[in-house]
Amino acid sequence: MGEVDSAFIQATGHRPKLDTTEVEGIPLIDLSISDTRDIKELVSEIGNACQRWGFFQVINHGVPLELCARIKKAAKTFFDQTMEEKRKVKRDEVNAMGYHDSEHTKNVRDWKEVFDFLLKDPSFVAASPEPEDKEIRTLTNQWPENPPEFRNVCQEYAREVEKLGYKLLELISLSLGLPANQLTGCFKDHITMLRLNYYPPCTCPDLALGVGRHKDASAITILAQDDVGGLQVKRKSDGDWIPVKPIPNALIINVGDTVQVWSNEFYESVEHRVVVNSERERFSVPVFFFPSHYVMVKPLEELVNEQNPAKYKEYNFGKFFVARNRSDYKKLEVENIQI
Ligand code: SIN
Ligand code: FE2
Repeated sequence: MGEVDSAFIQATGHRPKLDTTEVEGIPLIDLSISDTRDIKELVSEIGNACQRWGFFQVINHGVPLELCARIKKAAKTFFDQTMEEKRKVKRDEVNAMGYHDSEHTKNVRDWKEVFDFLLKDPSFVAASPEPEDKEIRTLTNQWPENPPEFRNVCQEYAREVEKLGYKLLELISLSLGLPANQLTGCFKDHITMLRLNYYPPCTCPDLALGVGRHKDASAITILAQDDVGGLQVKRKSDGDWIPVKPIPNALIINVGDTVQVWSNEFYESVEHRVVVNSERERFSVPVFFFPSHYVMVKPLEELVNEQNPAKYKEYNFGKFFVARNRSDYKKLEVENIQI
């Protein structure tokens, strides 16, 4: 990425502290059910983690570990290529998916490169006069020629993580006192996106961030990271930035804005960021579970009453999704979902 450009420099209050003091981490939850641990116990652990942290790690998640290793290897091989090669699948005005090397978060450039694709190309969107439906329809994936196995590995991994996503949505639904299938119905034609993140070593990790502080717009996000570390979560109780320790074979789950709205803030979407380091490159693979584009998102009726009135107005997810990829995101954010 070359010299450190001023575009990467965070404002003083948002620069990372690079101490590595051990602190209490986000909860680690075993997703397996046994004779000594029933589903009720699991649901209650998930509910507590969602409420207290908005983040947790899971083991025994069902995503084959060899596939997790293969996607990280494919990501490395892809990002190790020349810029010229990577830019053959560059995101542009026409293609919203593909490779990108200048992501910005809150107007500061992130120290990273990304590759994005949708789990399903939204060719299912029927002809519609709605402009946002048309934009959703044009969202198609771009695949690089190299490495040759890249597309297959990505799609295989995506299929397995999709199963885990449905399982987690059911557990979250149960933890809110709702039927297991209450949320999954909103994902029939989902526009879920998988992102490969590459964070190169950085000469000024005290000034720049891999990803600046942000919340995810998803319902939930499922993230695989390597053993380097760098993700930090803003602890709800005191606002401190807490590192998420890499745990071998674990996946990181977080609640996004959509669950915050559905649960009427019973669960909150929590700010997080990524610090970089001067020695090691880092790879991570988030999958953002977005509902179907036509879903109208609002606090669920079962969770709203006179004492606890709806905190959000209803909004169309596709309209929100399209707008958030454009500059009017902030306006929509404030007016419609007030996050
Ligand atoms: C993100 O939150 O966008 C990335 C998280 C990570 O790389 O750990
Ligand atoms: Fe994120």
